[in-house]
Amino acid sequence: MEANPCNNRRSNLLLLLLIASVAANLVTASAALSSVAVASEEKVKLTLYYEALCPFCENFIVNSLSELFDNGLISIVDLKLSPYGNAKIRSNGTIVCQHGEWECILNTVEACAIHAWPALSDHFPFIYCVENLTSEGEYAKWETCFEKVNVDPKPVLDCYTSGFGHELDLQYADEIKALEPPHTYVPWVVLDGQPLYDDYYDVFTFICKAYKGSNIPEACYKEQNAKSKLKSKSVTSVSFVTDVGMAESM
Ligand SMILES: *[C@@H]1O[C@H](CO)[C@@H](O)[C@H](O)[C@H]1NC(C)=O
Ligand SMILES: *[C@@H]1O[C@H](CO)[C@@H](O)[C@H](O)[C@H]1NC(C)=O
Repeated sequence: MEANPCNNRRSNLLLLLLIASVAANLVTASAALSSVAVASEEKVKLTLYYEALCPFCENFIVNSLSELFDNGLISIVDLKLSPYGNAKIRSNGTIVCQHGEWECILNTVEACAIHAWPALSDHFPFIYCVENLTSEGEYAKWETCFEKVNVDPKPVLDCYTSGFGHELDLQYADEIKALEPPHTYVPWVVLDGQPLYDDYYDVFTFICKAYKGSNIPEACYKEQNAKSKLKSKSVTSVSFVTDVGMAESM
């Protein structure tokens, strides 16, 4: 067959166009993939029942929950915060908190923040900032967090001063009182309806185990590897992973 330069150029052009459109489709497809969040009903439901000044709660928020955002596990978790903990309602309707008046103030402030910015990615940085301060004993400086995380203070301050924050506290009180089995301390971490009790430190492992979807985050494989290494070290028996990510180490 005789090559026709003109046709060749034409078919080269067509080829180029074809490559370009395939590439464009790939780009669109991968953009769609990365933006296709894990369906919310597929996510692991994790709720932290806590109070603003309990040291283990502060530590869990600042050192564990914040990690979820860094290691990518947050993509498979539906995380909710419930700032009330062991507070009690007095007969005259006021609330008394385990760690005193400051705790009541900050529980309400955090409840207001969750209400003002319902998306986790919007209220978590503020709550993280407040808890990071309280873990340093600097709770009186909580208002500096508005500027630190660059949010408008108004909705939270209005919520607090109007008394709406108190209504939110009462809702969180109802929420924690309704727990079955009932909470016995804080932090009380509930994963898919089951309390983790003192195993809450191992929350990443529980999240990875509980997740049944197909978008397994990288961190779950790492989690599994770290676990099986630890295990093989401690029991000096062979440990292997049959189904990476989801298998129990043996
Ligand atoms: C509610 O009761 C507490 C303790 O009994 C008391 O200190 C507080 O002033 C009372 N508050 C109101 C609004 O009655
Ligand atoms: C958390 O607190 C430490 C100690 O006060 C401080 O150095 C750090 O900047 C704080 N982190 C954030 C994100 O606010």
